[in-house]
Amino acid sequence: RKQQRKRILEMNKIAARYFHQNLYSPDGKQALDYLQGRGITERTIKTFGMGFARNGWDHLMNLLAENGYTKQEMQAAGLIKLTDGKSYDMFRNRAMIPIINAFGDIIGFGGRVMDDGMPKYLNSPETAVFNKSRNLYNLNLIRRQKNLSHLILVEGYMDVIALFSYGIPECVATLGTALTQDQARLIKRYTNHVYISYDGDGAGQKATLRALGILTQEGIEPRVVVIPDGQDPDEYLRKQGRNGYIQLMKTSLPEMDYRFRNVEAKYDLSDGYQKEKFAQECAGILKSVDSAVTKEKYARKLSEITGFSQASILQDAGGTQKEVPKWIPPKAETGERTAEEKAEV
Ligand code: UTP
Ligand code: MN
Ligand code: MN
Ligand code: MN
Ligand code: MN
Repeated sequence: RKQQRKRILEMNKIAARYFHQNLYSPDGKQALDYLQGRGITERTIKTFGMGFARNGWDHLMNLLAENGYTKQEMQAAGLIKLTDGKSYDMFRNRAMIPIINAFGDIIGFGGRVMDDGMPKYLNSPETAVFNKSRNLYNLNLIRRQKNLSHLILVEGYMDVIALFSYGIPECVATLGTALTQDQARLIKRYTNHVYISYDGDGAGQKATLRALGILTQEGIEPRVVVIPDGQDPDEYLRKQGRNGYIQLMKTSLPEMDYRFRNVEAKYDLSDGYQKEKFAQECAGILKSVDSAVTKEKYARKLSEITGFSQASILQDAGGTQKEVPKWIPPKAETGERTAEEKAEV
């Protein structure tokens, strides 16, 4: 088992080196052009170890075979596909991005088509070394940063790479899946301050609401960077530059402000009935807030927007304050809880 992990990491290293070299061979010109066309510089290509999987069925397979690896091993690494006797390279004619864990091991790859083919990204399957829900892209670079004051969470590798090249290296991406609790815990090891900076499109907004729940559950206080016109960080940076993005970070929203804004988009507040629905839905969201002070703050905001009284908003949001636990004389003998204690649970 341990041996298998070691063999997969070795194969991945050979593959990554090969992909990277390909970029500078005659074959790789179109891939290099593709990356440079996206504003990715030589230095960034080196930093992230980007490469190119040549167009063909067995380039990598042959190289790995020469190095003494069996097809079964290559399949276990997710580098070739093996179906009823037929085998071929998993990644063909794609720009390649190695996925590196916090220890510097190459655990998998993402491969991007260079036109509008499908799927846009092909990712390594889960293997003995690649667990997508327990890793984040860019942890290897994050780990080396001293005095990290915050992290920016983005959707895609290309967003991390763009942020890095614009001098904003403190970012991580999920690996083609939704944010998990394990990833939130991983983030918390580095910092408590997280900016969610997902794509501004509908899918990104939905993913943001989910990520807010997962991060706050882990005790992180996230803020949301709202990117206009459905753009993603990469696109926004290329249009508005570093300062533009920093400005978005400065105007990022705390959880409740983002959630309310999101609800507000569904209603026409000039209509009395819809305003009522809006206030009720927001009050429902406020129920999840623990702090009475925070509840009051948002009840006031909602009251200002809708004209409903703070008192009724707070009532719909589950009272003006969380019950302060009463001191109850312990009944040490039985360990039985009083009816009152039971009701509290
Ligand atoms: P996006 O489609 O937003 O990717 O998906 P992107 O990074 O902006 O892509 P570019 O800029 O067009 O190159 C976000 C992430 O979702 C995963 C990838 O991890 C990607 O980075 N994804 C997306 C896939 O795994 N497969 C896909 O086909 C598309
Ligand atoms: Mn996306
Ligand atoms: Mn998107
Ligand atoms: Mn995107
Ligand atoms: Mn993009």
